Amino acid sequence: MATKKNKTRKQKPIRVGVIGVGRGSSFASGATDLVGMKLVALCDTWEKKLAEAGKRYDVATYTDYDKFLEHDMDAVILANYFHEHAPFAIKALAAGKHVMSETSCNATLAEGVALCRAVEKSGKTYMLAENYPYTRFHLEMRRLYGAGEIGEVTYAEGEYNHPMAPQDRVDISAGRNHWRNWIPSTYYCTHALAPLMMITERMPLKVNGLSIACREVDAKTARVGDPGSVILCQMDNGAVFRIFGLLLPGHSNWSRVHGTKGAMEITRGPSYFGPGQVRVWHDHWLRAPGQPAERTYVPDWPEHGDLASRAGHGGAFWTNFAFANAIRSAIPPFLDIYHGVAMSSVGILAWKSALADGAPFEVPDFRREESRKPFENDHWSPFPSHATLAPNQPPPSIQGFVKPTRAGMQNARKTWKAQGYTGE
Ligand SMILES: NC(=O)c1ccc[n+]([C@@H]2O[C@H](COP(=O)([O-])OP(=O)(O)OC[C@H]3O[C@@H](n4cnc5c(N)ncnc54)[C@H](O)[C@@H]3O)[C@@H](O)[C@H]2O)c1
Repeated sequence: MATKKNKTRKQKPIRVGVIGVGRGSSFASGATDLVGMKLVALCDTWEKKLAEAGKRYDVATYTDYDKFLEHDMDAVILANYFHEHAPFAIKALAAGKHVMSETSCNATLAEGVALCRAVEKSGKTYMLAENYPYTRFHLEMRRLYGAGEIGEVTYAEGEYNHPMAPQDRVDISAGRNHWRNWIPSTYYCTHALAPLMMITERMPLKVNGLSIACREVDAKTARVGDPGSVILCQMDNGAVFRIFGLLLPGHSNWSRVHGTKGAMEITRGPSYFGPGQVRVWHDHWLRAPGQPAERTYVPDWPEHGDLASRAGHGGAFWTNFAFANAIRSAIPPFLDIYHGVAMSSVGILAWKSALADGAPFEVPDFRREESRKPFENDHWSPFPSHATLAPNQPPPSIQGFVKPTRAGMQNARKTWKAQGYTGE
């Protein structure tokens, strides 16, 4: 007799195509039976890398995105350039595919509006592939918060500051106009903000941003954006979230949440990359009888720990898993279009704020047409490929349109040539 378990096993895998074979390889590797997915196609314009990946995964390969979308598949995972996800997502949705998009949904507010409309029109599943909310520490903090352990959030801090050796950064940013060389310091905010939003389920209403200019950090690279920023978000319950990043020496990847009944954080220091710990603490008048002042422990996965461990890389497992579940159940994932566009827009609006000395900017409510409509033609963007979308496009640094150093550019050109890159 067929049991419910057997029936589940017999479900057809979700056929997935991935565009971008750099970071996209993690999603390709994670499209397995464990999550009920099967990789069927890959797309990339870099032919050498595409051929290698196609051989590795033994699937169809395409250099043309439109042809790739004609492949018989259910879903597309976007791991192409950071600032080009929205138009690719809109095309995929129009072709009847579910979409999961890396790190950012939209690079302009107009794209955010268009993408929300496209998702609504398509009726398909859309998810932001933010992996940081799915560390076991953040999942534990979400569980604690949901159980009322620290009450209602009042203040939170999230940090994703990921410095790399200059040469390592040059290695992964081929091209003078590659997004990594231009991205303003506030745009890569979702790794720090998404965990806090998923733990507390609060939405941002207003942002202030300040950018940290320090050319010394990029003296040996081709980067013209600033290396660091701080963003303050006023949330829809009155709480304030502080977000810090991006490339400043001193690796820091950390979260803390204060509530009306206590506080919790991931312990600071190298333990985050070792076993890691969650610390929860309560002041004496807020403790239940017998409750300890604080506890610090290594959390287990709240659920599916066996699957996450077997997959090897928790992050890639969880995003693919959440995406597959959302497709199968037709219930939007937490990191749906509205949360994704709100987070991505925080980065854009914080850049507007940084260029206006930290003035506050309101985040539209992308769930409501009347709130988002005023932004449907807002193509404000510092990326070179958006230069003609609007007059007076902004610079990528608070110091203006700075130039890479001669030494930085010479080193970058040499590196990119050796990689087989033929562009500028
Ligand atoms: N979540 C994480 O931890 C994490 C880590 C790394 C990168 N990312 C994200 O993944 C995305 C890709 O980053 P990356 O590190 O792979 O570097 P990348 O942006 O240089 O790679 C993008 C790939 O897409 C290909 N591509 C670009 N335009 C294309 C087009 N029109 N058609 C076909 N292929 C095209 C490029 O050739 C390249 O191979 C970015 O959004 C980045 O933010 C996330």
